[in-house]
Amino acid sequence: MKGKSTEIIGSGYNGKSSSLARYHSINPPIYHASTVLFEDYAELKTVGQGQYDGFTYGTDGSPTQRAFEQAMTELEGGHHTWAFPSGLAAITSVLQAFLKSGDHLLVCNSVYGPVRRFAKNLLAKFGVTTSYFPAHAGANIVDYIRPETRFILLESPGSNTFEIQDVPAVVKVAKERGILTAIDNTWATPLFFRPFEHGVDISIHSVTKYISGHSDLLLGTATVSQACYADFHKLIRALEIFASEDACYMALRGLKTLSVRLKQHEASALELATWLEGQAAVEKVLHPALPSHPEHALWQRDFKGSTGIFSFVLKPEYQEDSVARFVDSLELFGIGYSWGGFKSLVTAGKFAQSDISRYHDRWMIRLNLGLEDVEDLQADVQRALAAL
Ligand SMILES: Cc1ncc(COP(=O)(O)O)c(C=O)c1O
Repeated sequence: MKGKSTEIIGSGYNGKSSSLARYHSINPPIYHASTVLFEDYAELKTVGQGQYDGFTYGTDGSPTQRAFEQAMTELEGGHHTWAFPSGLAAITSVLQAFLKSGDHLLVCNSVYGPVRRFAKNLLAKFGVTTSYFPAHAGANIVDYIRPETRFILLESPGSNTFEIQDVPAVVKVAKERGILTAIDNTWATPLFFRPFEHGVDISIHSVTKYISGHSDLLLGTATVSQACYADFHKLIRALEIFASEDACYMALRGLKTLSVRLKQHEASALELATWLEGQAAVEKVLHPALPSHPEHALWQRDFKGSTGIFSFVLKPEYQEDSVARFVDSLELFGIGYSWGGFKSLVTAGKFAQSDISRYHDRWMIRLNLGLEDVEDLQADVQRALAAL
């Protein structure tokens, strides 16, 4: 007769039940596991010998994580994808995997801000130097390359200032010198820009944005070419980095509606951006799909669409007090970071981060268009402009 506690532990599902094998739910199951069980000692032994190709422990990820990673690999057209706890974690893992002491990292000046902090506070500590090049450099990136440059990090367009990079030109220069390239492809999503078709080695996403689409999770991915697989795999094994099971499930769910959501984001953002170009207080609208954008031709050449976030620069007479009045007058736009979700959002500031940026030291407003009716969003922005 077993004790009550033993009875509870052994009751119901026992980790080896096959009764679930024929339950074909349309979505994958969510596994919450640190421990995964082996069949017998012989199987356990193969783990120790490095010959087991299944999941050995929670840090290996889970079938749901693998399903999400596989979906991203297919959409990106790369060799393999790993999921990370956030977009920033994906970027910093890529940099850790491919840089070593003495190397030089070249980053576009429009890069997601916290990457600068990582380079300054962490990479520098490990002997990696970082410098920044103007995002619109194109083939002129050659002027910024040093003998010890090992890696170039691109983001196109930049998520505050929206410069489009001449990716094929940069990749050509990099390949001639044996330099690896990675791109933050979050704005375009795998639907609108295909980094591997342009020769980029690694494509990174903040899944937090359009792919998840509901502002309720943090997740990132890095998809690598075959040539980069082995070095990146070493880092994953060393850090045992993995992603939240629930977040991977929700991201897979988000992926299914990505293309229909993007149609709405794209149409609304273009309509509002076009209208804003005609408004008296606005000096410049920074949206790559507008013919007035300085790199519009590159966007037309390389991208299959645009998404729902853009910025505009106010005329110089409007300073911080005007910006504050604009932001506080909006009713439909939440004031908050991130983008790609269902609700429209606004942020504002002097976004151009370095003096090699266009519009350095100028006040800008960034609008992330959600899924509300665009007529209502435009009326809201019109009211806020009147308050300037
Ligand atoms: C372009 C871009 N890349 C990466 C990130 C970081 O993603 P996460 O918030 O998932 O860490 C962000 C976040 O805003 C972003 O805008």
